[in-house]
Amino acid sequence: THQWRGIIEEYRDRLPVDDATPVVSLGEGGTPLVHAQVLSERTGCDVYLKVEGANPTGSFKDRGMTMAITRAKEEGAKAVICASTGNTSASAAAYAVRARIVCAVLVPQGKIALGKMGQALVHGAKILQVDGNFDDCLTLARGLSDNYPVALVNSVNPVRIEGQKTAAFEIVDRLGDAPDLHVLPVGNAGNITAYWKGYQEYAADGLATHTPRMWGFQASGAAPIVRGEPVKDPQTIATAIRIGNPASWEFAEAARDASGGLIDEVTDRQILAAYRLLSAQEGVFVEPASAASVAGLLKAAEAGRVDPGQRVVCTVTGNGLKDPDWAVAGAPQPVTVPVDAAAAAARLGLA
Ligand code: F0G
Repeated sequence: THQWRGIIEEYRDRLPVDDATPVVSLGEGGTPLVHAQVLSERTGCDVYLKVEGANPTGSFKDRGMTMAITRAKEEGAKAVICASTGNTSASAAAYAVRARIVCAVLVPQGKIALGKMGQALVHGAKILQVDGNFDDCLTLARGLSDNYPVALVNSVNPVRIEGQKTAAFEIVDRLGDAPDLHVLPVGNAGNITAYWKGYQEYAADGLATHTPRMWGFQASGAAPIVRGEPVKDPQTIATAIRIGNPASWEFAEAARDASGGLIDEVTDRQILAAYRLLSAQEGVFVEPASAASVAGLLKAAEAGRVDPGQRVVCTVTGNGLKDPDWAVAGAPQPVTVPVDAAAAAARLGLA
């Protein structure tokens, strides 16, 4: 029987580590690739969900963070810092606990989901709420790491990308080849960069016969790559991707162009519709930003831009429990019943 050992042990030969590296892991990766029946029917394709909310801190960030914190530990760093819309900070805080180093996080004030704030707090991170957006937080984090003894663990740190590319390896290992199309949400654009790197490496080494087309989706109110210019005041209910000037902008465009792909936008309404479809019809509870991938696939399918018969993977990046407000909002209040089988049965429509 095989126990998953975390991405560094599973893909050691493809990552920048050696025998002396002090691996800091929470057993990340090895996440489910779930066949999506309703999405397959709607698109005429074979659609799978890469469920990254199953990672230890509930998002794909753990793949990059095991590498970034391992590297920080290896280099003797006493403290790390990141800017975050919530998931990076949750992940950095948890891995820093294991490495016994200090974690500082910069988050946009009032704009991160409660569950993510709770994670940073409970893992003992030093949290500063910045009077600004994510882009301002990243500028500040870069400045601090340039001038003070603190290592930057945002995805501008190349080892983050190395860790995150393992999700592509897992997909090819599971399916036996690369999918035809890979769809994901785009915020700071690190993840699309990482998947593209992973798919290219496997194809170059003959472990896949081809690379997929890469489709990325930004929220309409935070779609700088689609607009072709930074967005000063990005707005979306999908707070994880509320980013106006992505750090990996050019890499995302390179992935799009080299793969024959696409970077497009989806509205908050489309994101919420996909969010509800995933939970109510596929049984997969994600946070709103994660649903941007599925919203984008459905938008393209409705516009006749998805050829049937393809193998498609949508990454759903974060767990729904991170941001439960959207699950509860607009849902009917549960009714209260006495401890009485007949009354309960009547309410359930069983009698
Ligand atoms: N989905 C979720 C749930 C995220 O948290 C993020 C990014 C993305 C998608 C976009 O990924 O930035 O690589 O394009 N969250 C970062 C954070 C910004 O701080 O947690 P990306």
